[in-house]
Amino acid sequence: YHVDWDLSAAEKQGYDWFMRKEIFEQPKAVADTLLGRWSDRGELVLDEVRISPEELRRINKIVIVACGSAFYAGMVAKYAIEHWTRVACEVELASEFRYRDPIIDPMTLVITISQSGETADTLMAIRHAREQHARVIAICNTNGATIPRESDAVIYTHAGPEIGVASTKGFLTQVVACYLLGLYLAQIRGMKYGDEIRALVDELESMPDKIQRVLDGIEPVYELARKMARDEDAVFFLGRHVGYPVALEGALKLKEIAYLHAEGFAAGELKHGAIAVVEEGTPVFVVVPPEGRDQLHDKVVSNIEEIRARGARTIVLAEEGDTAVSAFADMLISLPRCSTLLQPLVAAVPLQAFACELATAKGHDVDQPRNLAKSVTVE
Ligand code: G6P
Repeated sequence: YHVDWDLSAAEKQGYDWFMRKEIFEQPKAVADTLLGRWSDRGELVLDEVRISPEELRRINKIVIVACGSAFYAGMVAKYAIEHWTRVACEVELASEFRYRDPIIDPMTLVITISQSGETADTLMAIRHAREQHARVIAICNTNGATIPRESDAVIYTHAGPEIGVASTKGFLTQVVACYLLGLYLAQIRGMKYGDEIRALVDELESMPDKIQRVLDGIEPVYELARKMARDEDAVFFLGRHVGYPVALEGALKLKEIAYLHAEGFAAGELKHGAIAVVEEGTPVFVVVPPEGRDQLHDKVVSNIEEIRARGARTIVLAEEGDTAVSAFADMLISLPRCSTLLQPLVAAVPLQAFACELATAKGHDVDQPRNLAKSVTVE
């Protein structure tokens, strides 16, 4: 008899789309990226970073360049790296960076982030940086790709192959690699010592379980997505601090695969424009930081109040046990507890799953969205 062997179905391991499979692989991908980073000597080690500690101590500026989701990973990195190392860190779209005569020199550390390692604009940006004698560290998911080959050093994310065009596990592991690099620089530069670093690495190591918990509770997010697939044509995302790049990433996912008009805003900028587009029934996702730091949480809660007073339908992502937000949430998505800086690792996941389910419900090819390519090798 004849067996129809569908290779692609087998590779999807029971999932309908590679993207969904990759979303669910994230606990493992994050754990793999963290593997083997702690030495017997009680230090964070990044063996691949073959730039001498002396040189890394001399660096006086960090510039992160990337495109797409990798750029948003870079935005998250900026908050963490500056906080931990106290070195000024900018993040810029690769396509903008190379055409504006940026100020870089041998004391500049350029960090490029690219899942594929082949994105043309990112590659051109590092070539430009190296011509100015900056040191370049690549964060990449693809062994031996052009960008890591042309960099001084590379930190590989261990997400495994990412097939879905819209990045998911690629993005999350990029964020993890950025945290590791930030902590490593803080260690080398004497900004943080053994116990402090160990505590942060411990927290990073607890993230795969937390991401798993988000995935285990994803059904209500799917239900919302199926409902919204029927009648929504615009969705907004708000966030602040590291929640801001998460909001941008949530909007990007919806644009990429669901072809919806989606926009991410910095919650603090609401009054400077975005609030004018909020109408009765406008769906707005809000990423709420954990309670109790720099009033950040309370500021975002009052932003939710403001948009709700104008009729927005609020879908609020907040830490479990956050009682202040529930009164203003039409729907509440609970996130496991973690520190503010690491929250993107759990907050991005429901947004990815939401986009995947909504696009699927609309009947779109989630893995191969129209007009997009997995790796953009032309300018
Ligand atoms: C394309 C992909 C995105 C990705 C971006 C950057 O647009 O569809 O998912 O974030 O390129 O790709 P890279 O391989 O450089 O991370």
